[in-house]
Amino acid sequence: MAVKLVITEGQLSEFKQKMLEHKQKPGPLMPTLHDAQHIFGCIPLQIQKIIAVELGESVAKINGVVTFYSRFSTEPKGKHIVSVCLGTACYVRGSQLVIDEMSKILQIKPGETTEDGEFTLEASRCIGACGLAPVFTIDGKVYGTTTPTIARKALQEMLGK
Ligand code: FES
Repeated sequence: MAVKLVITEGQLSEFKQKMLEHKQKPGPLMPTLHDAQHIFGCIPLQIQKIIAVELGESVAKINGVVTFYSRFSTEPKGKHIVSVCLGTACYVRGSQLVIDEMSKILQIKPGETTEDGEFTLEASRCIGACGLAPVFTIDGKVYGTTTPTIARKALQEMLGK
């Protein structure tokens, strides 16, 4: 279930001001996207269209860049980011079972955010901690040699259960 995004006039004018500053310098696209992600928490299509017009680029190009980099997102993310590595080393050691358990507890699929906006569940590529496979992170904290039971405990702690 997607969390509804509300964009305020204040956010929009702050963003447009930043974009004007970036336009004065070479290579304004990436800094503009960083600001958009920071100010709005994501870069939905309506913001991509504004960027395209202002920077004289196509929406397709903007969208291509936004969806290529994992640090950008097109939908609002939850307060807590739960990310399970599905890279090869983690996958062969059972990370699919870990993410399935997380999915069951949070009642969302990977890529989704809980309705209360608390958690986003993500499947990630290798995060470079293969020696600890299978690995997941919660708000950047790495959990290694995990199992569905460890995943359940970590989430239940956060849920206060
Ligand atoms: S494959 Fe998961 S950390 Fe490398």
